[in-house]
Amino acid sequence: MPMISSALERFIYQAASRSRKQTEPADCVLALAPLMLDLIEQAGTFLEPQHYRSDPHGYARNLVYDAADESLSLYSIVWLPGQWTPVHDHGSWGVVGVIEGVLEERSYVRLSPDRGADSDIDLVRGGTVLLRHGAVTSFVPNPDHIHVTGVPSERPRAVSLHLYGRMMSDFNIYDVGARTRRRINVAHNES
Ligand SMILES: [Fe+2]
Repeated sequence: MPMISSALERFIYQAASRSRKQTEPADCVLALAPLMLDLIEQAGTFLEPQHYRSDPHGYARNLVYDAADESLSLYSIVWLPGQWTPVHDHGSWGVVGVIEGVLEERSYVRLSPDRGADSDIDLVRGGTVLLRHGAVTSFVPNPDHIHVTGVPSERPRAVSLHLYGRMMSDFNIYDVGARTRRRINVAHNES
């Protein structure tokens, strides 16, 4: 069992308690975002070399903490230059904090009204946000928060912390041209 820093322990205790009380995802991320803001500043006390593992073939997801009841999970994600997610949503709330570099998020908006459908999905591109060290962003699944995140090839590595309201071991990816969506499993490195 790795030693858990007191900052991480405190964060997990408070995040679990606040997320239990806030059943509405938008209230939940409101309550958790300030905790992430503080956690970023303490990252040096609990991130270890294994949390900075990267993969030349794609962004690397390193598990930092998972709750025994799978109600919370925290990952450190390492984005090498030019690495991006597919277009995806999470089916969960999430709170993201940037540790290093600039994480870029490009959003999409779903125009087709049937959120349960896996085909005939019309997506249009939305805006871009650039998140530096210390920045916190969040999302909720009402409606689907569809986006791409990553680092353009001309920028250096980015590292970010991602807290979700479930184990994030699968999510929906979208083929914008084919107007389809499908569920895929996503891998992570154990801590
Ligand atoms: Fe995402």
